[in-house]
Amino acid sequence: MNWSEIRALFPAAEQYTYLNTAAAPPLSILAAREGQRYYDEMAEHGDVAWDGWLCQVEEIRERLASFINADARSVAFTYSTSHGMNLIAGILDHCGDVLCPADEFPSCTLPWLQQRYRVHFVRSRDRGVVDVDDIQRSITNETRVLGTSYVQFATGFRHDLVALGRLCRERNLVFVVDATQGMGVFPIDVVNSGIDFLVFSGYKWAQAGYGVGGLYVAPRFLNPTAFPVAGWWSARDPEAVVNDRLDLKETAAALEVGCPHFAGIFALGAALTLFEEIGKSRIEERIHELTDYLHQRLQADRFNIASPLNRGQRSGITIVEMRNAPEIVKRLAEKKIIVSARGKGLRVSVHIFNNFDDIDRLIAELRELPSTASANTA
Ligand SMILES: Cc1ncc(COP(=O)(O)O)c(C=O)c1O
Repeated sequence: MNWSEIRALFPAAEQYTYLNTAAAPPLSILAAREGQRYYDEMAEHGDVAWDGWLCQVEEIRERLASFINADARSVAFTYSTSHGMNLIAGILDHCGDVLCPADEFPSCTLPWLQQRYRVHFVRSRDRGVVDVDDIQRSITNETRVLGTSYVQFATGFRHDLVALGRLCRERNLVFVVDATQGMGVFPIDVVNSGIDFLVFSGYKWAQAGYGVGGLYVAPRFLNPTAFPVAGWWSARDPEAVVNDRLDLKETAAALEVGCPHFAGIFALGAALTLFEEIGKSRIEERIHELTDYLHQRLQADRFNIASPLNRGQRSGITIVEMRNAPEIVKRLAEKKIIVSARGKGLRVSVHIFNNFDDIDRLIAELRELPSTASANTA
């Protein structure tokens, strides 16, 4: 499949200059059809297909696990990052203080605060870079958890998960990662990075729509009797409907307390299939290539980029410094150019359905802005 054929799978890419995956991308028709298929079957056959749907959930669990180099026993489906993070905070049961980058999205910090953990923040440096040495210096005798996004939502900084995993092993910290802003486009290997818990939401880079997410639980934490939640679906044999004692699944699936969100899981399955067909390294290279071009065009017009510039620290998110970004977002939307306002300005993000023309169209509109709007003083 070439990039034009891939783009054709995303009808929204024809209607819009869609540079807003960091908020939510459009779905491919393949993912949308898989979700739709579930609703059609439910409409036409009711619950008759239940057993088949369950088999598909397990097949998608296997594929999600292999996508992040995990065992399927370690993978649970959730409905959001916040949901997964709350479960993790519950599993860790007040084991000690949590350290987070200061630029973190609230889904990664509020669950800890709500469960009365002490959370400490590590300030980022220029362009949102979070230095491993700064993290190291912030670790105290009370720190037990390092919780971070893979990619920071408002700077686009991408952490070196292998380096952080090494640090966590050296300092005996639990390593918790929110991969929402990187899942599907940048490498994730939970074993190689020594990740203990990984969460992600399906509606961003994973291109699976709202209401589905994933949670990885490292084998050393797979102890369902210590999980903070349970429901009928957590039971080893749910159909036995035993209500007076716990006999739980011995896998992360015990955290799925009720019936599955079939439509969301099927859409995620289709999105993973597309990523696998294109190839992970090809996708990563494409994001870099588009971002190289975006940066080059922005710099040629003297716009300030507030995100990291080098490939090792960059992601699919670029922040362009703007004084009144929310207003500019509205103006661009009138021209069907979709971006968002975050951090120091305009957040522009590129995914596999984007092309170089999208970037040209954005730049052409940015050039029309009154000079007071932009911070193009470089
Ligand atoms: C890093 C990160 N994690 C998670 C989310 C979404 O959280 P949730 O799935 O809880 O809605 C966002 C949304 O912008 C995000 O940027």
